[in-house]
Amino acid sequence: MTTQTSPAAKPASKPHDAEKAAAFAKGLEGVIGGQTAVCSIEQDKLIYRGYEIHDLAEHATFEEVAFLLLEGHKPDSRELERFKAEIVAERALHPAVTSFVESSGAWLASGRAVPMDVLRTAVSILGHTDPDCQDNSAAANLRKSKRLLAKIPTIVGHMQNVIDGRALIGRELGGDPTLSHAANLLYMMTGRKPGKEEARVMDVSLILYAEHEFNASTFTTRVISGTLSDMHSAVAGGIGALKGPLHGGANEMAMEMLKEIYASVGEKGIGTGAVDEWMQKAFDTKRKLMGFGHRVYKNGDHRAGILMGLGKKMAATLPGTFGGLPAPKWFELGEQVQKIMLTKKNIHPNVDFPCGMTYFTMKIPVPQYTPIFVASRITGWCAHIMEQHGDNRLIRPLSIYTGPAERKWNG
Ligand code: ACO
Repeated sequence: MTTQTSPAAKPASKPHDAEKAAAFAKGLEGVIGGQTAVCSIEQDKLIYRGYEIHDLAEHATFEEVAFLLLEGHKPDSRELERFKAEIVAERALHPAVTSFVESSGAWLASGRAVPMDVLRTAVSILGHTDPDCQDNSAAANLRKSKRLLAKIPTIVGHMQNVIDGRALIGRELGGDPTLSHAANLLYMMTGRKPGKEEARVMDVSLILYAEHEFNASTFTTRVISGTLSDMHSAVAGGIGALKGPLHGGANEMAMEMLKEIYASVGEKGIGTGAVDEWMQKAFDTKRKLMGFGHRVYKNGDHRAGILMGLGKKMAATLPGTFGGLPAPKWFELGEQVQKIMLTKKNIHPNVDFPCGMTYFTMKIPVPQYTPIFVASRITGWCAHIMEQHGDNRLIRPLSIYTGPAERKWNG
């Protein structure tokens, strides 16, 4: 006699609950989500396509790193000049994007939108204006990557001009064609052409932010592009993921936290037990201190030390006060907070911590720190989107069901 097997009784083609439970890691911690030739993170090394981050921060420019990530190899001088010219030529925005950014002032002023929201929407509109928008071929993706890289700083700059109530800087050309990506970004946001050292500090910060393997926002872009959706959709999703304070939003929150500590302890309190007391209260209330900790790095984030060193060196040359404090005092406070965090919690700063102080002493408004992160990370995102489209398989994990047992609708 043959027994009829109901569909429910068929041998499971998917892992059983026990196997799933054994494989489960909350937040996908430690799970390998794919393969990449773009970047490698180890406890003691961060590598972009074979080049170690200290080497890049010391010897490369952001444009060279952008080329490396997008085109896949170190550029020779002719390739670099061609790439820079392509980017400069693409900086200006379509009037539809400019007009959207101009119309965003009221939302920004009311707090219903923050710059990351406006940037996300502006990138969506960029998609409508891009002749290659629906084309996922490698050549079209590379063209779109370059346009996004060129245009995002223009959106960020225009947005800050709108917030400050001044005419858009570089409306026709997207800034000053003679300026580098980093210097032009600062110029468009502030109306001030930065000196060589300031431009280099911004340039290095962009190198440090450019790529970081399967972090939350990059993974988001890979999930979206893995459905064979287009690059602008994936980047808009990436911006949404980066905005969160546990990810890119931490560079803004780190500076807000330092401002809060300064407001509480005063200038005289810096370097004293008053900062320890503030920190202890934060520990007692289980408050997360922004700019500290990392899912992958447990012995410190390589990028943080590089940016701390550069920011501190620049701060020592800056006259005047910044939010009431001389620039070096912010770094003194930051170093004290780092020391307490390490001694009491054994938690190291991540790159977002020194970024806060560094951008603050460059007089960049705090809500633009994460959009600047986007102006850099767009290179890593696009490299990953191209890699995903180049060898695609839908990204679709499983879950463990924790809801009620099966029941009858009419039962
Ligand atoms: N402040 C206080 N305690 C912390 C912090 C922090 N910043 N980071 C981790 N911890 C503690 C946690 O409370 C937890 O303690 P517990 O075991 O006693 O509960 C332990 O360290 C482990 O932390 P998790 O949050 O479980 O670590 P996870 O890997 O999930 O999170 C994360 C990593 C999100 C970065 C976390 O460290 C954090 O929230 N940091 C603050 C936000 C931040 O700076 N984000 C930027 C990351 S870098 C980037 O995106 C560019």
